[in-house]
Amino acid sequence: MKKPIILINFKAYENSFGEKGIQMAKIIEKVSREYSTDIIISVPATMIYKIAQEVSIPVFAQHVDSVSLGARTGHTTVEMIKDAGAKGSLLNHSEKRIRLDEIDDAIKKLNKEGLESVVCVDRYSIVAPIGMLGPNSILIEPPELIGSGISVSKAKPEVITKGVEEINKVKGVDLIAGAGISSGDDVYTAIKLGAAGIGVASAVMKSPNPEQVVEDFVKSAIKAMSEK
Ligand code: G3P
Repeated sequence: MKKPIILINFKAYENSFGEKGIQMAKIIEKVSREYSTDIIISVPATMIYKIAQEVSIPVFAQHVDSVSLGARTGHTTVEMIKDAGAKGSLLNHSEKRIRLDEIDDAIKKLNKEGLESVVCVDRYSIVAPIGMLGPNSILIEPPELIGSGISVSKAKPEVITKGVEEINKVKGVDLIAGAGISSGDDVYTAIKLGAAGIGVASAVMKSPNPEQVVEDFVKSAIKAMSEK
């Protein structure tokens, strides 16, 4: 059975950084160990080093600048996130959009440094063109459902099924789905619709019991993958 891809985006919630951010990462690592499933966490840039020191699950940046080293001010480069312990980066999240040429440059730089890339897209029509740039995965998220508690699986299943049709035109790139994922059932449905996994934020970050939520998601993801 292929393992599901589960990506938890810490975003910039009040518990995404500092001691609370570290505790969240440890909770997720615990579930990851219990179910022998990698869970990727994308954390604020300032927390990459600290969290990567504390947990062994893959830590990603939420964004990386595609510029090369040199006279640059205020940039976080691929070399910097690698040095901090990141294993990859999200790119072009709806909350942090970048230009197409920047996506292309960042994928190439991440690749060169042996890091992974997960490019976010807001519609299925650009899944194949972005896939041709060679990221590891594409995370498809209808922006209007992000943080809404209404899942893409239930509200816009066609975004996943059409996204899967598009990704199948490209070799070696996984399609994962996100936005509003709130329950194990949402995770199960997304994967049954053809996604290779899910991306989630608020359902975990805003939960009073994140361990239970992550466990529910992981169990549902494994069940759906085992039925494929
Ligand atoms: O990166 C994943 C994220 O945008 C989904 O957010 O809060 O709808 O799970 P949320």
